[in-house]
Amino acid sequence: MEDAFQPAGEPSVAIAFSVNGKPVSVEAEADTPLLWVLRDDLGMTGTKFGCGVAACGACSVHVDGAITRSCSLPVGEVAGKGVTTIEGLKGADGTLHRVQQAWIDAQVPQCGYCQSGQIMAAVALIEKVGTPSDEQIDEAMTNICRCGTYPRIRQAILAATGRAAAQTGEA
Ligand code: FES
Ligand code: FES
Repeated sequence: MEDAFQPAGEPSVAIAFSVNGKPVSVEAEADTPLLWVLRDDLGMTGTKFGCGVAACGACSVHVDGAITRSCSLPVGEVAGKGVTTIEGLKGADGTLHRVQQAWIDAQVPQCGYCQSGQIMAAVALIEKVGTPSDEQIDEAMTNICRCGTYPRIRQAILAATGRAAAQTGEA
């Protein structure tokens, strides 16, 4: 008797890239979202799943320095590139990135679920423009926070870039 028809999936292939400065190679279907490779194959669960459709930003990572929503990026597209996740922000000696420290100092998180993506977006913004204006912050920080921590997110970015003294709003 013939086997029942099984739709063929994409074949798994070896995909090499780097994560937080370390080379990795995974066997995966090339259209698997990077998010699931990070979480399931590489055990990096700091990057979160929120919406899965590139809307909320919880899954944000950097790919070659650019802020990227990993839920909607096929892992095949990062072959040969450099991915940075929230786990890669701290220094070699364990010192937190200044944005992570500013987040703690400003007590930004409520439930905390969205915060790794928010921090990755803030770091990408600061690396791109140095000291962002209010308008640049509003334009860049498009991640959704269901807890409504936006005032504290702005406060932390101001602190991380030395503009805290100009911030007089809600804490
Ligand atoms: S989980 Fe990727 S943008 Fe929402
Ligand atoms: S801190 Fe709860 S969703 Fe942002």
